[in-house]
Amino acid sequence: MAFRHKHILGIEPLSAEDIQLILDTADSFKEINSRDIKKVPTLRGKTIINAFFEASTRTRLSFEIAGKRLSADTVNISGSTSSVVKGETLEDTARNIEAMSPDIIVIRHGHSGAPHYLADRVGCSIVNAGDGAHEHPSQALLDLMTIREHKGTLKGLEVAIVGDITHSRVVRSNIYALTRMGANVRLAGPGTMVPPGIERLGNVSVFHDLRDAIQDADVVMMLRIQMERQSKTLLPSLREYARFYGLNPLNLTLAKPDAIVMHPGPMNRGVEISSYVADGPQNVILNQVENGVAVRMALLYLVSGVDSMQDQ
Ligand code: CP
Repeated sequence: MAFRHKHILGIEPLSAEDIQLILDTADSFKEINSRDIKKVPTLRGKTIINAFFEASTRTRLSFEIAGKRLSADTVNISGSTSSVVKGETLEDTARNIEAMSPDIIVIRHGHSGAPHYLADRVGCSIVNAGDGAHEHPSQALLDLMTIREHKGTLKGLEVAIVGDITHSRVVRSNIYALTRMGANVRLAGPGTMVPPGIERLGNVSVFHDLRDAIQDADVVMMLRIQMERQSKTLLPSLREYARFYGLNPLNLTLAKPDAIVMHPGPMNRGVEISSYVADGPQNVILNQVENGVAVRMALLYLVSGVDSMQDQ
């Protein structure tokens, strides 16, 4: 099957077949990352700009490593070291980047829709590396790859996602991706952190008690409390949050005995997840990071191979 998307702006426009193709391509690229010489010529001659206007460790590094392992020329700019600090608009910044003829711009931006805005205005491919509270497609894809590796399938799994649902772009992308691949999604968080109508994004159930959400779950995915996006009214205290919504060895026993524990990072240890769980035998958190490189190699490869374009 051919991949017919010029951009990766989110999971929402992708079909189950698209997701399957990305995951299968990532599986085939993963082996390269354990070779002595971790480089193939697949994207030789291509130029990839990683434009990160928000902080990132995992996503920025793994997109850069992914590009380099495919032999692309990768260049990074950040908001704080670009002329954005002198007042240049996003559109002007993008047009100036485009004048240097990149093939792909990978963008993380604090505003939801920034990658879509660029995709309408520049000629190269745009890959969304996280936009505001909207989507984080590559994170959801690496999450699915990790679940599939550990569980053998996605279909029929019970996946509990717990935390700050309102501010999480990871949860939106995961709802689209998991439900499209046949998993059942349960969301849990305090009433102030679960937006009304979230069920409409896919076939999901909403809980306000962590214990109900993780009962007999196959996968427990904890979300970061996003301190930078909180107001005091949403979160009375971190201690109270940890007491009712933090994952610890005791409440984890409610999930299936072979349940895996996931977190997109960065973690607030002692808040949404205890160190006993984060470092415990059921955690697959560093597998997620490892798979992030393979998934991003697959995305860069697939968008660069487009010859008949179906814009999202
Ligand atoms: N999961 C994730 O997006 O991490 P970074 O913010 O470090 O990229």
